Amino acid sequence: MTHILHRQIHAELPAAMRGAGLYLYDRGGRAYLDASGGAAVSCLGHGHPDVLRAIHEQLDRLAYAHTSFFTTEVAEQLADTLISDAPAGLSHVYFVSGGSEAIEAALKMARQYFVERGEPQRRHIIARRQSYHGNTLGALATGGNAQRRAAFAPLLIETHHIEPCFAYRYRRADESDEAYGLRAAEALERKIVELGGNSVIAFVAEPVVGATAGAVPPAPGYFQRIREICDRYGVLLILDEVMCGMGRTGTLHACEQEGVAPDLLAIAKGLGGGYEPIGAVLLSRTIFDAFANGSGLFQHGHTYLGHPLACAAGLAVQRVIKRDRLLDNVMEMGARLHRRLSERFGNHPHVGDIRGRGLFQAIELVSDRSDKTPFDAKLRLHARVKKEAMAQGLCVYPSGGTADGVAGDHVLLAPPFIVDAASIDLIVERLGNAVDAAIEALPPQRTGLAAAAAGG
Ligand SMILES: Cc1ncc(COP(=O)(O)O)c(C=O)c1O
Repeated sequence: MTHILHRQIHAELPAAMRGAGLYLYDRGGRAYLDASGGAAVSCLGHGHPDVLRAIHEQLDRLAYAHTSFFTTEVAEQLADTLISDAPAGLSHVYFVSGGSEAIEAALKMARQYFVERGEPQRRHIIARRQSYHGNTLGALATGGNAQRRAAFAPLLIETHHIEPCFAYRYRRADESDEAYGLRAAEALERKIVELGGNSVIAFVAEPVVGATAGAVPPAPGYFQRIREICDRYGVLLILDEVMCGMGRTGTLHACEQEGVAPDLLAIAKGLGGGYEPIGAVLLSRTIFDAFANGSGLFQHGHTYLGHPLACAAGLAVQRVIKRDRLLDNVMEMGARLHRRLSERFGNHPHVGDIRGRGLFQAIELVSDRSDKTPFDAKLRLHARVKKEAMAQGLCVYPSGGTADGVAGDHVLLAPPFIVDAASIDLIVERLGNAVDAAIEALPPQRTGLAAAAAGG
């Protein structure tokens, strides 16, 4: 009998005992090929000796010093590193302990910025449907996943959501990718105008949407138009790269590939690679100056900000990525992963789309390829695929709600940056077996639409 309130109370979880490279091992010694790095976290795999050494050395020197009394060398070094590689205009770092905390801090920074500037009437946050920004109340309110929000709706701050930029589901058949990108971006301008141009604080978006839509890259030109619209109305652009950032898509920041820089950038997951809990917000010089020349502080804080062990882990992870030129491997192995997925699933009757960037790839499962009808959400196909994959000794990160926040299933892959060609091939082989086994085991099929018509 466990005393832990696990995520799924009735699930039987194996106990993870050890991790080495691409593999996790359970109590019985069974090996699991970690093709998702948990939730796109373990970018260097498990047990990396350089990261372990750095954490041990930091622990021997200093485990903790409260940030209202001290700064630490290791936090300063990590901030220097992050800013030297940051998108244009970002000049300072605010450390936190994870992705949701990063989003909460970014939202509050954005609001305080306008208070400092004498624009306290700015109060609206705009984000996108089918996005995920975390589970704390502010981050959950910002996220656009209908199912995750539903139970907590009365507690959520007011936010506004526009359509995602999601070509597979929203591009019209007669539209080019470029035309679709511009059309999708115009939804932001319409929403800003509807709310009143000088009442909006920020627009929040994941450059490549992760957990709730499955590695959805933006259409060409989308983010450039978004940046222009934000600038036109003085609205801040907050990019959430908690999942897609820190090298996952092949460049250190996903927004580099869009040719835009945000005002606030949230990072986490791959920053510390799972070796310690760490996240951060990178903020622009303009925002920093407004604080510095105004109240002189950011009205926020947590006990574990800038934790020395977390910073030591983050610094070591980022040094290894650079030293070993791992982003080259992300590009090369990412291309191989996409190719192998296309070979295995390109003609699969229940795979509607194969998409992603770098080592951030996904397949979207559909009941009917011709009209993209999702499976009945009640079948929870994504959960079945995860279980079958585990039985095959493979960890993948499937989720539901892909199509509209409730129906739809995808499987997200985010292997460690150290992955090799043979392991990519093994991932796709095992995933293929798991998808086929899960679909074959479904009860007589009910599609999403048929279920809705039947009141299902
Ligand atoms: C894009 C994005 N933002 C925020 C979060 C929340 O991060 P955390 O779970 O570390 O609080 C996640 C987590 O999956 C995420 O994918």
